[in-house]
Amino acid sequence: MSLNLENKVILVAGGSSGIGIALVKQAVSLGAHVHVVGRSTEKLALVQASLGSSITTHCADIGIECEVEEIARTIPVVDHLVTTAAALVFKPFLETSRADIDSMLGSKLIGPINLVKHLAPRMPHSGSITFYSGLAAYKANAGASIVAAVNGALDGLTRTLAIELAPIRVNVVSPGVVDSPTWDFLPADTRSGALGSIGDALPVGRVGTTTELANAGLFLIANGFATGTVLQIDGGANA
Ligand SMILES: NC(=O)c1ccc[n+]([C@@H]2O[C@H](COP(=O)([O-])OP(=O)(O)OC[C@H]3O[C@@H](n4cnc5c(N)ncnc54)[C@H](OP(=O)(O)O)[C@@H]3O)[C@@H](O)[C@H]2O)c1
Repeated sequence: MSLNLENKVILVAGGSSGIGIALVKQAVSLGAHVHVVGRSTEKLALVQASLGSSITTHCADIGIECEVEEIARTIPVVDHLVTTAAALVFKPFLETSRADIDSMLGSKLIGPINLVKHLAPRMPHSGSITFYSGLAAYKANAGASIVAAVNGALDGLTRTLAIELAPIRVNVVSPGVVDSPTWDFLPADTRSGALGSIGDALPVGRVGTTTELANAGLFLIANGFATGTVLQIDGGANA
């Protein structure tokens, strides 16, 4: 795959952690200027310190439309839009609070909708949009009902926008379990054992890396024939 991002502008919501930060680093190394969006100023400051003037950070909650509108006002052109943003809660459905639901819908469904609404009009015909959904949409797991719902919704949103926004391309990567900070809620002494057991049960014998999932997003950005694609990169979990 050859991808030259010299003079390209990419916006990565969720680019201050995990898969997003891996994608931001690779995009910068390929020549892009990257706008990184997240809610925590501390996390954004760490990315800024490591990547300097190759990135611009924006502290915003993508689930809040006026915050996305404000970012869009400051960026005249965006070549590629990516969102890996997610604030998820894994709980039995009947214990899931309204705040939990708002956090999940805001970060993974309303957020992507807000981003497309305000940034697609600033994208060239050669532009692309890449969402990240997840395995929960295709493989049911107790405790992940709302996660499954938002991931599944992104599938339909992607395939419909691919038609409506053409020739801008719209795709979604569906990761399986990946070793990222998203799992840091697990107690330190059980985290690696838990991810190890999940990996052992997969055909590839391990969980994914953030770089592997960032590469999947970069592949979709690079491939001009890919649109309306749901790219499942999950170690065979859905095989
Ligand atoms: N890791 C996995 O095992 C796995 C499995 C399946 C699917 N996925 C999906 O892959 C994507 C990336 O996962 P990851 O593991 O890299 O996630 P992560 O490390 O938890 O990073 C999530 C990022 O999203 C940002 N964020 C959360 N809510 C936001 C909001 N409302 N507005 C703006 N930014 C927000 C976070 O920063 P702030 O908190 O500072 O806002 C953080 O930078 C997600 O869509 C996730 O659901 C991951």
